[in-house]
Amino acid sequence: MEFITLAQSLARKAGTLILSRMGEQVLAEEKSSSFDVVTQVDKDSEQLIREGILSEYPDHEILGEEDTFIAQKLLEDVLTAVKKDTYMWIVDPLDGTNNFVQGIAGFTVSIALSYNGEILLGVVYDPCSDEMFYAVKNEGAYLNGKQIHVSDKAGLHTSVIATGFPSQMDARLAVYNGLGKLIQRCRTIRSLGSAARHLAYVGAGRLDGFWENGLKTWDVAAGVLIVQEAGGQVSDTSGNPYSLNTLHIVSTNGQVHESLLDCLN
Ligand code: IPD
Ligand code: CA
Ligand code: CA
Repeated sequence: MEFITLAQSLARKAGTLILSRMGEQVLAEEKSSSFDVVTQVDKDSEQLIREGILSEYPDHEILGEEDTFIAQKLLEDVLTAVKKDTYMWIVDPLDGTNNFVQGIAGFTVSIALSYNGEILLGVVYDPCSDEMFYAVKNEGAYLNGKQIHVSDKAGLHTSVIATGFPSQMDARLAVYNGLGKLIQRCRTIRSLGSAARHLAYVGAGRLDGFWENGLKTWDVAAGVLIVQEAGGQVSDTSGNPYSLNTLHIVSTNGQVHESLLDCLN
């Protein structure tokens, strides 16, 4: 099966599984702290995606959030250990676990494929709205088959910017500091509970920008390509181009990128 077809099919299957279990009594287990939770549904979704990839491509690597956590591996070590000339799938099986646990719509499944550090494709599927956002390197970004583009806002004062609240306290406080400055400069701020959805929305022009500190590769890899292929810009909070190791991310329609960076720094 073609890579993008497989990614979309697995994202849809995983999203359908998650949606079917919404409202069930799910136990939210704490991972690194009480701010960081996982459920059996996250694990089942990752298992479904992992099996689906390996049945088609048994020699591909998979960087999955829950497997990486269970094995207590350090993300940096995992990324350094990836062999050259190997395809690596980057999977967040349920982005927005807190939304899911609370019964709030708006969680996503995020699947990207990388090769030698470059993202080749990205899929972000929101099962609540049945919206499939995807991008293929150099082929554009799409929502349910229709090409999408970032917004054309030219100034922060008319922009709607999103952020999220990471589980690690230093990153959470960095977001808090940024909010204090940005709230005085932009039209308004949103926090929708899924980093992947925030990025997909920047790609679709629903948001003019998104930033968050302390994110992980699986939260953003697919969404980053969607933003870039929709004509937007992605960097770290110092303005360096995005790489798979970037934790503190700023993504915009391009036109407000410098202003957002200036405001946050
Ligand atoms: C979280 C979501 C949230 C963001 C957190 C992430 P998870 O991912 O993307 O929006 O603010 O930083 O950890 O735990 O729901 O997969
Ligand atoms: Ca996530
Ligand atoms: Ca997750």
